[in-house]
Amino acid sequence: MSRGTTALINLENLKHNYGVLKKMAPNKLVLVIKADAYGHGIKQVVQTLGSVDCYAVATIDEALTIRAYNKKVKILLLEGFFSEDELFIALENNLDCVIHQHQQLSLIDEIKTDKKLNVWIKYDSGMNRLGFDEIGFQVAIEQLKHHESIKHITLMSHFASANIPNNHFTEQQKQRFLQFKYPYPLSLSNSSALLTNNNLNDEWCRVGITLFGVSPLQGKDAKDFNLKPVMTLKTNVIAIKNVKKAQTIGYSQTYTTKNDTNIAIIGIGYGDGYPWILTDKAYVIINGAHAKIVGRVSMDMMAIDVTGIKNVSIGNPTLIWGQNGSDQLPIEIVASHAQTIPYVLLCQLTSRVHYKYV
Ligand SMILES: Cc1ncc(COP(=O)(O)O)c(C=O)c1O
Repeated sequence: MSRGTTALINLENLKHNYGVLKKMAPNKLVLVIKADAYGHGIKQVVQTLGSVDCYAVATIDEALTIRAYNKKVKILLLEGFFSEDELFIALENNLDCVIHQHQQLSLIDEIKTDKKLNVWIKYDSGMNRLGFDEIGFQVAIEQLKHHESIKHITLMSHFASANIPNNHFTEQQKQRFLQFKYPYPLSLSNSSALLTNNNLNDEWCRVGITLFGVSPLQGKDAKDFNLKPVMTLKTNVIAIKNVKKAQTIGYSQTYTTKNDTNIAIIGIGYGDGYPWILTDKAYVIINGAHAKIVGRVSMDMMAIDVTGIKNVSIGNPTLIWGQNGSDQLPIEIVASHAQTIPYVLLCQLTSRVHYKYV
C-alpha cells in the first residue's frame, strides 16, 4: 500500500466547465492558466483544451510552456515584459503583452525589429496593482495607436471585488473604465464578473478559477453554476488507533479525547500543502461519513476521528476535497474553514502530491 496522496485531475470536467463558460460569455474567453493552471498542470490543460480563443499566464516561462505544446494559440502575458530580452522573446514567440507602465513604452520604442506586437493596455480602475492612471492610459494609447511595432490594441482593467455581488466599487470600476471611448476591444470581466452577469458585454472575459470548477463567489458553490470540480484530493489511512478517554492527540496536545475514540491516521499534512491552520477545525470524508480532524496537522499526516464510522481499515481512501462518487467535499468549504480562498489551496499543493489525470 502507498500513502496514496493524490490529486485526481478530471479532464472531462475541465472540458465541461470550458463548455459552460463558453456559453455564458458574451464574446471570447481568455483562459487564465498561470501558476501551473492553478495547480492543475498547465501542460495537461493545454493538451486537453487545445486551440482556444486565448490563454493567459503571468510569466514568460509559463507562456513558453504553452507555446511548446501549441505553436499557434494566442497567449497573453498578464504582466507583460520587464526587459528588452523579454520583449524580444515575446515578439519571437508571438506573445500578446499587457502594457501597464511607462518603462514598457520606452522598451517598445527602443526595440529594433520588423516583428509586430499585440498589446493589451491596462487601465488601473481602482485595484491599485498594475495599470496606468487616467492620463497615463490615454497617453499610452496615443503613443501606441500608430506605432510601427504594434499590431492590435485591446484595452483592459481588473476588478478588485467582483466576488461580492452587487458591490458598489465594482460598478464604479466599470464606469471608470467605460468612460473611455476608443475603437478597441475591451476586457474587464474575471470569473466573478461573468458569474454575476453584470451585462458588461466585453469582447474578452478573462476566466481562471471557474475553469477548474470552483466558485469565487461568497456563499456559492460551483454546482450552483453547473461547474464541476476538476481536482479531487485524496489520501489513504496509514494507521488506526483506539485512544482512551482523556488522552491527548498529536503535537502540542491541542486535542483531548472526550470518550474512548477510534482514530485513523491519514497520509497528508502541511508538507503536502494541506493547511496547518485546519488543526481541530475541518473534516474529511471516509466511507461516506464526515470525520473531524483532531489534533495538530503534522508535516506528513493527520489524525481523524472515525468513531462510529463502519469498516475503516488501513489503506482506506479518504476524500480531502472534491468529489468521489456520491461523496462531495467542496474545496470552497475547506477554504472557508481555513480562512483562505480556494485559489490558495489549489496553488499550494507541493510536489510530493502525486498527480493523476483521468
Ligand atoms: C488580470 C487577471 N485577469 C483575470 C484573472 C482571472 O481571475 P479568476 O481566476 O478569478 O477568474 C486573474 C487572476 O488572478 C488576473 O490576475
